[in-house]
Formats: sequence, C-alpha cells, structure tokens
Amino acid sequence: MQFAILLLSLVGLTVAASAGGAGSKSSSTLVSTATSNSEAVDVIAFQNVGYNGFYYNVESFSDILSDSCSCKLSSDTTAFLGTNAPLNEELSVHFRGPLVLQTFAWYTAESYTHGLGSGTFERRAYYNASTQTNDNVTFLTNAGAPSPCLGNALTYASSNGTGAASGSTVLAEGTVLGSNEEYSIFSNISCGSSGTSNDCGVYRSGIPAYHGFFGVTKMFLFEFEMPEETAADEDTTFYNMPAIWLLNAHIPRTSQYATDSNCSCWTSGCGEFDIFEIMNTTELTKLYSTVHDYQGTGDINFGLQAFGHFTRDTTSTMKGGVVFDDAGNVVVFMLDSMDASNSISGSDLDGWINNAGKEVTKSLSSVAPASTTKSKSSNGTLVESHSIFAVFISALFLVFLYI
Ligand SMILES: *[C@@H]1O[C@H](CO)[C@@H](O)[C@H](O)[C@H]1NC(C)=O
Ligand SMILES: *[C@@H]1O[C@H](CO)[C@@H](O)[C@H](O)[C@H]1NC(C)=O
Ligand SMILES: *[C@@H]1O[C@H](CO)[C@@H](O)[C@H](O)[C@H]1NC(C)=O
Ligand SMILES: *[C@@H]1O[C@H](CO)[C@@H](O)[C@H](O)[C@H]1NC(C)=O
Ligand SMILES: *[C@@H]1O[C@H](CO)[C@@H](O)[C@H](O)[C@H]1NC(C)=O
Ligand SMILES: *[C@@H]1O[C@H](CO)[C@@H](O)[C@H](O)[C@H]1NC(C)=O
Ligand SMILES: *[C@@H]1O[C@H](CO)[C@@H](O)[C@H](O)[C@H]1NC(C)=O
Repeated sequence: MQFAILLLSLVGLTVAASAGGAGSKSSSTLVSTATSNSEAVDVIAFQNVGYNGFYYNVESFSDILSDSCSCKLSSDTTAFLGTNAPLNEELSVHFRGPLVLQTFAWYTAESYTHGLGSGTFERRAYYNASTQTNDNVTFLTNAGAPSPCLGNALTYASSNGTGAASGSTVLAEGTVLGSNEEYSIFSNISCGSSGTSNDCGVYRSGIPAYHGFFGVTKMFLFEFEMPEETAADEDTTFYNMPAIWLLNAHIPRTSQYATDSNCSCWTSGCGEFDIFEIMNTTELTKLYSTVHDYQGTGDINFGLQAFGHFTRDTTSTMKGGVVFDDAGNVVVFMLDSMDASNSISGSDLDGWINNAGKEVTKSLSSVAPASTTKSKSSNGTLVESHSIFAVFISALFLVFLYI
C-alpha cells in the first residue's frame, strides 16, 4: 500500500514473495497449511501476532509546501509490547477502488479467544450505506494541499468519497470508488492539538485529525463490492486493484504516501495490516492478506503475506472482516452471510468462521528482531530496514535487467 509497493507495482515486476519468511504450521487437523499462493481459501489465520519492539514517530515538519520539504523523526523510540503489537494501537481503515462499501463496523471485546467462543463483541462504530448511518465514523480522503514530501493533505471526504468537504459527510449509498482512488475511515473523536506528548502525537497541520480505532481485542466487519473497473486504463496506478487495509493511525495523519521516510512511522514498523488486497494485475481475482511490521522479518515492504487467497467476486457483495483476539490470533474471513449487529458473541463468531470453509494458518516468529533488523543512530537514521529509496533503486535495477 505504501509508496515502495506502489513503485514495484508500477513497473510490474515479479518479485519473489516473502511469504515463506516465517514458517507456517497447522495447529489442528481441521486447519491446513497452504503451501502456495494459488490455494483459494475462506479463512486466513495469522498466529502469534504481536511482539515487543519500537518505532519512531514523526517529531516535526519543515517547509511542507515547498521543494525543500522535510520531516524529522523523534530521537526517542515509541515502544510497543505484547499481544497483537503494534497492531494493538489505534488503526485507521483504508479503501481503494474499484469498490462499493455497504457496511463498515468496528467492535471491541474485553476478551475473545478464537476457537474458544469466549467473550462478546460490542459494536462501537458503524456505517450503513442504505440507512446512511454514520455512528462514530469520519470519512477522510487525500484531497487537500499537495506537498512534495507528504503528498496531498487529508480532508473530509464529500459524499462521493474523493472530493473535499468542509465537514464530516456520510458516504452516499452506491458510491463507486474508482481504480487508484481512496478514502479512509477514522472514529469521530477529534485529536487534541498536535504535539509529541499529546493524545494523537504529531500530525500534519491543517488536517481534520481524528483518532483511529483502538483495541488489543477488536474486529472490523465489511460488506462491499469489488466490481471490475469499467473505465479505460490510462496508465492508471493500481488499475482494477481494489483493497481494504488498516494502518497505524499515526501514518495517515502525518503522511500516507511520503516520499521521505522520515515523514511517517511506517518505515520503522508502526504497523499495517492488509485485509483484502489485489497485489498485481496478473492476479486480479486473488485477495491477499499481509502483515507489515518487523515481527520475524527485516523486510517491511514485502511484509509477511499468508499463503492462500480469497477469491474476489466481481459481480456480487462480499462479506467478511478481520478479528484480533486476545491470544495473538488475527483471523481474516470471507463469509456467505453475517450480521453486523450491535453485539456478537464469541461463540457466534467462531461458528461463522468454522462454517466459512477452508482455513489456512500462518504462524509468526516469536523473535523480536528489532535490534537486528532495524537500528537507528542517535540522529534518527534508520539502518538496514529497506528504505523507500532503496526499493526504488532496486526496482530500477530490475527494470534494467528486464530491458
Ligand atoms: C502477484 O502477487 C502474488 C501474491 O503476492 C504473487 O504470488 C505473484 O507472484 C504476483 N505475480 C506477479 C506477476 O508479480
Ligand atoms: C468511537 O471510537 C473511538 C475510537 O477511538 C472510541 O474511543 C469511542 O469510545 C467510540 N465511541 C463510541 C460511542 O463507542
Ligand atoms: C442497514 O441497516 C438496515 C436497518 O438496520 C438493515 O436492515 C440492513 O441489513 C443494513 N444493511 C447492511 C448492508 O448491513
Ligand atoms: C460520535 O458518534 C457517536 C455514535 O454515533 C455519537 O453518539 C456521538 O454524538 C458522535 N460524536 C460526535 C462528536 O460526532
Ligand atoms: C466528487 O465531489 C466533488 C465535490 O465534493 C466534485 O468536485 C468531484 O467532481 C466529484 N467527483 C466525481 C467523480 O464525481
Ligand atoms: C547525531 O549523532 C551523533 C553521533 O551518533 C551524536 O553525537 C549527536 O548527538 C547526534 N545529534 C543529534 C541532534 O541527535
Ligand atoms: C532522515 O533523517 C535523518 C536524520 O535527520 C537524515 O540523516 C536522513 O537523511 C533523513 N532521510 C531522508 C530520506 O531525508
């Protein structure tokens, strides 16, 4: 989703999948271990998610609208710890077209362990297109002022998802987000002022800044369509490549598509989770799930992709989501039916997932590789993690090989 990935997609390269980075293993006889991306599944369960590590938040911005635009990362680390970390932090929810959103819901539970049926999820944010309900939901989009290092500023999204609005606006029913277009969802809780020790940390000035969705144990449900793009491909980036993903909410509030890796905590591993993502134009009906942080990998750009994919249905509504449990299981599922009701018991949820069909698992390494995969001089230079620039250079190099 990030700029580096974008560049690789742009040049259409086949890059060795890093999905084998941490070995997969099956935990029960019902669950198979997929050994190739070609396997179509209904459930993808990442196990052992969460580690103890740290990242670097943005501390300041300079000259953001000029060519000399730059950002500085804090010299202090932001530590994270435990189950699902760093994805236990507040997350924002991102959409890329072609996509039509019918339902979005966020839930938290005090406890829920996948497979044990424990706990109850309470709905805390809800968008329903047909009733135009916008409970605790703010639609934002990158339609604001352009910046050479930060990209376009976040604004409120207008009812068509991509225009700028002057205040929070409900997405109109049936809005078709086109290829390469995006909007995002945050909660309706405004951030206090930007500042290193404030509730949302430092963020770009002038944006509508909102909290993401918190929780160690949380769930996101979606009803959506991913229709075939009908417009012509005019060198469109991400042509006909829809996706739904989660970012550490710090990322979009500073810069989602930074050209300078110091403008976001993404490169130092504050976390991204791709729920349903078309990866390339060769596989336009395969939706993959990927974790992007440093748990068991030094390559945050490729992250840890699970083997197996969901099938993109281009003609009817898909229903599914992702649940983060209290034992480090992050389970992505596609269901035939589901009900994004006020309250969902853990046993109902387990029932849905068990009946969904084929499940594959991927277990993440317990090793906290922070000290070996990323380190930082006291001046804030990230060492050894793939910088966006490094990936750009390697992409150019591969293009060169192709030619
Ligand atoms: C498309 O993405 C999938 C999943 O990452 C990968 O297995 C496949 O090799 C990619 N194909 C190309 C042509 O890049
Ligand atoms: C809305 O979402 C925010 C997420 O940051 C949460 O703090 C708040 O409690 C939610 N509101 C309701 C009514 O649940
Ligand atoms: C939207 O809300 C209505 C009324 O509560 C409900 O009947 C309908 O199922 C909801 N739509 C979706 C797609 O969840
Ligand atoms: C946020 O959403 C909740 C749930 O719909 C609502 O009760 C609350 O009034 C909203 N707060 C703001 C500031 O819009
Ligand atoms: C979306 O709405 C904005 C106004 O908010 C308008 O300028 C823009 O043309 C609209 N886009 C489309 C594709 O209709
Ligand atoms: C920059 O790094 C050097 C050497 O690591 C260190 O002595 C110096 O204090 C650092 N400067 C800042 C502003 O952190
Ligand atoms: C990021 O910040 C460090 C420390 O200030 C600096 O050395 C480095 O060049 C910056 N990176 C970019 C891409 O500007």
